Amino acid sequence: MTHQDRVVPLGQPTVGQAELDAIRDVFDSGWLAGAGPTCRQFETELAAACGTAHALATANCGSALHLALQVLDAGPGQEVIVADYTFPATGHAVAWTGATPVFADILPGSWCVDPAAVTAAITPRTAGIIAVDAFGQPAGYAELADIAAAHGLWLIEDAACSVGATYQGRPAGSFGDIAAVSFHGRKGITAGEGGALLTDNPEWAARARRLHTYGTEPAISREGATGLPIPHFAEIGRNYRMSDVAAAIMRVQLTRLPDLLAARNQTAAHYRELLGDVPEIDLPNVIGGRTHSWQSYVPTMAPHIDRDAVAAQLRAEGVQCNFGTYASHLLPVYESASRCPVSADVFARHLAIPMHANLTASQVERVAATLRAAVTNPANRR
Ligand SMILES: Cc1ncc(COP(=O)(O)O)c(C=O)c1O
Repeated sequence: MTHQDRVVPLGQPTVGQAELDAIRDVFDSGWLAGAGPTCRQFETELAAACGTAHALATANCGSALHLALQVLDAGPGQEVIVADYTFPATGHAVAWTGATPVFADILPGSWCVDPAAVTAAITPRTAGIIAVDAFGQPAGYAELADIAAAHGLWLIEDAACSVGATYQGRPAGSFGDIAAVSFHGRKGITAGEGGALLTDNPEWAARARRLHTYGTEPAISREGATGLPIPHFAEIGRNYRMSDVAAAIMRVQLTRLPDLLAARNQTAAHYRELLGDVPEIDLPNVIGGRTHSWQSYVPTMAPHIDRDAVAAQLRAEGVQCNFGTYASHLLPVYESASRCPVSADVFARHLAIPMHANLTASQVERVAATLRAAVTNPANRR
């Protein structure tokens, strides 16, 4: 029996010979470092796929969020309203700038930030909003853009999980003033680690590019120079670059995106078919006018079900599972005064089950049968 037969993984990348061939090409080129020619090619292709004028490949999504906040001049004394239900990177990026994250509750159904909660959280110190495309479903950008415009705030889209999803026919990554995406190993397309900043604004893109190379233009801008120009270090930046090895993988992954999305959508439909009649769980919904990238598939347990006991039973039977994501305001690091009851409730009742593009129909059937048995097991009631 193989590991694959024994354990159904929660997430799994789809990578193979095409990625290995692309890596070999980068080895042959001699330019393995970051922000090189392969990154440039990937950035052009990613911007086209996401419908933005500019893309900047980064080390990960957290660094893209930090760069976005830096070019929007977020800093001490400011508040940034952050969707509460998210991976802590979203709030952390705000904290890195010295600004204060103020967590806003989410909507039941989409689990994206509630525009009414955003409005209620605005104070004279608010500088901007970060919305999160929860598990790959875009937030309500029409309302959020109206709120931002009415109050003179900027808007960032944390599209870490949503590459390939759409909202009102437009691609995720194209909303707000700046978007940040992730290519971490559990995302829909991946180089193991990686990210990107997306924007239509050429000044922000150019400043972010300098800030991701210690505050100066990347070396490729000096390629072919006959003199010895001294790089101009104008501000303190960091090394937030993606390597050209990772960019080579990402170029292939981007061509796979339609097939990988189709496979995830098929799995989501299969779960619905197999589990739609189980009263102990609510399955995730796709809100009208949006498409989902299904980075995670996260059923909600009914209040009388002991989620942790269900998780233990699934794991014991070889079905990997985990939290959906985190109610940021409850994390010790924030000691936040925010109240986000919807986020707190789903944080306690969500359980992510296997979702990736390599799942077979029989694995999906096994996961569904194991979950059905666990949630209907009288020992797993509160
Ligand atoms: C919503 C969200 N934002 C940001 C991140 C951070 O991404 P990365 O690990 O690429 O920095 C994640 C990671 O899972 C995420 O889910």
